[in-house]
Amino acid sequence: MYYPDSLVDEVRTRNDIVDVISGYVRLQKKGSNHFGLCPFHNEKSASFSVNQQRQMYHCFGCGKSGNVITFIMEYENYTFQEALKLLAERAGVTLPEIEYTQEAKERDNLKARILAAYKEAGKYYYYQLRSEAGKKAYDYFRERGLSDETMNKFGLGYAVTGRNLMYRYLKSKGYDDSVLKEMRIFYVNERDGMTDMFWNRAIFPIMDVNHRVIAFGGRVMGQGEPKYLNSPETIVFDKGRNLYGLNQARTSRKDNLIICEGYMDVIALHQAGFNQTVGALGTAFTSGHVNLVKRYTENVLLCYDNDEAGTKANLRAIPVLRSSGVSAKVIDMSPYKDPDEFIKNLGPEEFETRIKNAENSFYYEVRMLEKDYDIKDPDGRTRFTGEIAKKLLKFEDAIERDNYLQAICAKYHINEENMNKLLGKLAAKGEGIPEYERPRSGYNSRVKEADDGIKKTQKLLLTWICDEPEVYKLIEKYLSPDDFTEDMYRTVAGILFEQLKSGEPDPAGIISRFTNEEEQNEVGSIFNTKIGDLETNEDRSRALKDLLVKVKSHSYARQAKEGDPADINKIRLVMENKKKLQELKNLKLALGDNKEK
Ligand code: GTP
Ligand code: MN
Repeated sequence: MYYPDSLVDEVRTRNDIVDVISGYVRLQKKGSNHFGLCPFHNEKSASFSVNQQRQMYHCFGCGKSGNVITFIMEYENYTFQEALKLLAERAGVTLPEIEYTQEAKERDNLKARILAAYKEAGKYYYYQLRSEAGKKAYDYFRERGLSDETMNKFGLGYAVTGRNLMYRYLKSKGYDDSVLKEMRIFYVNERDGMTDMFWNRAIFPIMDVNHRVIAFGGRVMGQGEPKYLNSPETIVFDKGRNLYGLNQARTSRKDNLIICEGYMDVIALHQAGFNQTVGALGTAFTSGHVNLVKRYTENVLLCYDNDEAGTKANLRAIPVLRSSGVSAKVIDMSPYKDPDEFIKNLGPEEFETRIKNAENSFYYEVRMLEKDYDIKDPDGRTRFTGEIAKKLLKFEDAIERDNYLQAICAKYHINEENMNKLLGKLAAKGEGIPEYERPRSGYNSRVKEADDGIKKTQKLLLTWICDEPEVYKLIEKYLSPDDFTEDMYRTVAGILFEQLKSGEPDPAGIISRFTNEEEQNEVGSIFNTKIGDLETNEDRSRALKDLLVKVKSHSYARQAKEGDPADINKIRLVMENKKKLQELKNLKLALGDNKEK
């Protein structure tokens, strides 16, 4: 859905940034800025500033900056569309209805009805738990150490014994059988009609990241089979794309995410202060989960049960995480079975220690591998070494692979040179690296790395210019939008420079020029690139010049590649560019104080 610029501008200008951010961060006015503790990194003194006049925020600690829309995107981890919707509602602006096909309309309608019915069902269970009939479930949760506050936070409930109490309740609320069937919390058969799935069970509502109930888990209180009954997947619940507790964990402001197995583990850890915990709920960890996780952190701590199934789950999750660039560590919970029991017996402080001592996932994999071999026996040791080599080959990044090679060889007293030879032999045979991962030649991956580097440089420069229009005045005469070799950045630079020539930068306005969500998010990120801490004006000036030189030299290099190499004009252009670049390198830029500071 593409909203017109005028509408995006209206939503943005009707949401004063100080007002909005005050709802999330305690702000204090100091001079022309408001200051508070940065919600994007942990800090003790306030370096997060919000500027009312410019309608932008900036953190001098972590470098994050943006406008009211990017703030909501960052804080809530929302897409541009979602952020715009929230702000529109807040300011009472009506967004136009999205135009749908008939089929999509019906599907969306059904989805909305199912969600509404789930919300109703969740409330019903919630009140039952707190009623006379729910006393034994309440006592059960209390016995398991949960406080009232925790029970409320997770919306815990109770399903009363009864054939079709929930069914009748939802019917009375006006929901059709067609909607109720799709909820899949009722059994349907000809003789009895629809009957409730949950009888006399303690209820754990499963919520999506927006706190909407999308499924239930129900536990027997005491002995009984099955221990947990979970409602199946529906059009609103995709197991591979949801993690239990993520709705709470995503605003934990911790720099890691803990993944464990069960409902009770998640809840116990939250109650003990580890509010960055989520649960995979007995399903295999998928790439859908990784994508979800990656929106919040790149540091994952695996905390599956301390048993054979848990080990298997760890060993399955690690490669899935690694292939998406997420570095995992494994928390050792021995001698206890799961985090819930661990916390009860050893307490949060000891758990914190276990987090600190969590094992690098590669070491963990190798240690588990070791159990399959008798490494005292030369034969066993040779095969074990061979397996390590195969694992090492899975690291695509040469530096990373080398680091691991050295570390693991030292750990297991393996001769490094021999290991390197073994890797070479295996790689030549094409072993170790799955077909689809193998780069066709080293060249491609190198080019990609260089590309990422220049993209980052271009982004940094754009962020800085947007942050401090002063910067643009200094380098205006050297820089044109065409110097940005990425199509999107070139467009962004074009609009940004136009804005600066006639007044203030307006990043939200730029974001809205792009139609699809991915592009909008990418533009949002352009204006949120970390610049880093630069203390003195000298450092700032030098850094600015370095960025400028990098961007220009890449731009010149591209010009040199285009067209006929023998063209006399082209040779002249290349020579001129060379001279200009040299002049740029000798340039003395004098950047003043950052006015926001
Ligand atoms: P308790 O502490 O005994 O309440 O359980 P837990 O939270 O430690 O969970 P456990 O490690 O026993 O199981 C992990 C997860 O697997 C649970 O949260 C459920 O999602 C799922 N699970 C456990 N038992 C069953 C079962 O009998 N049937 C189904 N379908 N899922 C189960
Ligand atoms: Mn347990």
